[in-house]
Amino acid sequence: MARTALVTGGSRGIGAAISQALKAQGCNVAATYAGNDEAAAKFTEETGIKTYKWNVGSYEDSAAGIAKVEEEVGPIDIVVANAGITRDAPFHKMTPQQWQEVIDTNLTGVFNTVHPIWPGMRERKFGRVIVISSINGQKGQFAQVNYAATKAGDLGIVKSLAQEGARAGITANAVCPGYIATEMVMAVPEKVRESIIGQIPAGRLGEPEEIARCVAFLASDDSGFINGSTISANGAQFFV
Ligand code: CAA
Repeated sequence: MARTALVTGGSRGIGAAISQALKAQGCNVAATYAGNDEAAAKFTEETGIKTYKWNVGSYEDSAAGIAKVEEEVGPIDIVVANAGITRDAPFHKMTPQQWQEVIDTNLTGVFNTVHPIWPGMRERKFGRVIVISSINGQKGQFAQVNYAATKAGDLGIVKSLAQEGARAGITANAVCPGYIATEMVMAVPEKVRESIIGQIPAGRLGEPEEIARCVAFLASDDSGFINGSTISANGAQFFV
């Protein structure tokens, strides 16, 4: 039986690779996006994966969007909370707005995405919750007090959900990508990016597909005893 998967931020970057990997694994996939209509339309045209537009920072929008996906695609078995933004600034320059925008999207967005789906997973006695955290949630990062706080928060979320969902056949796990060749990393000033690559023993950025394969494994029926875990994929840049 084909599983239904929802991937937030699933039409670009790591999320797009995840959507495609889950489709290749036989899932019916729905991908959300926040603003870039053109990229989403192109993604749907190229992959056949349906896209839905809503702001994960809003509980009402998320609940309404999820209800629509469940009606059109099917009850959601696999949810990948991937949508995330950066608003980098050294702490002494970080504004309350930069703090709040990142908290709303990256952390509250995970609550807003998983909470409406959770009761159905409990009823059906199956679920896979996968949250895309970050190496910077594990080690912290200069100019990312806001982002690192949300990504560390993701790890607390999955460890707690794992304990609550285990008896209902639901697993919750995190993937911590290192620096991956996406628009988000390309937006880092070139000099800084070069110095970051110098700190990666693999000597290169990761590819979105290398993260997508971790997610596809955690999403599979075979991964049922892996629960509350974190998979780090960072080219040996950091060990927990
Ligand atoms: N470590 C130590 N010092 C650093 C640094 C770092 N990683 N990055 C910048 N600095 C230093 C600079 O060398 C500079 O020092 P000097 O003043 O002595 O020259 C100083 O910090 C920069 O200070 P500014 O006040 O000029 O900084 P700014 O307001 O212009 O902000 C910045 C610049 C936003 C910090 C910019 O350097 C930047 O974007 N850095 C990258 C931050 C980063 O790594 N973000 C990760 C994005 S990718 C991602 O988030 C995906 C993921 O999950 C991995």
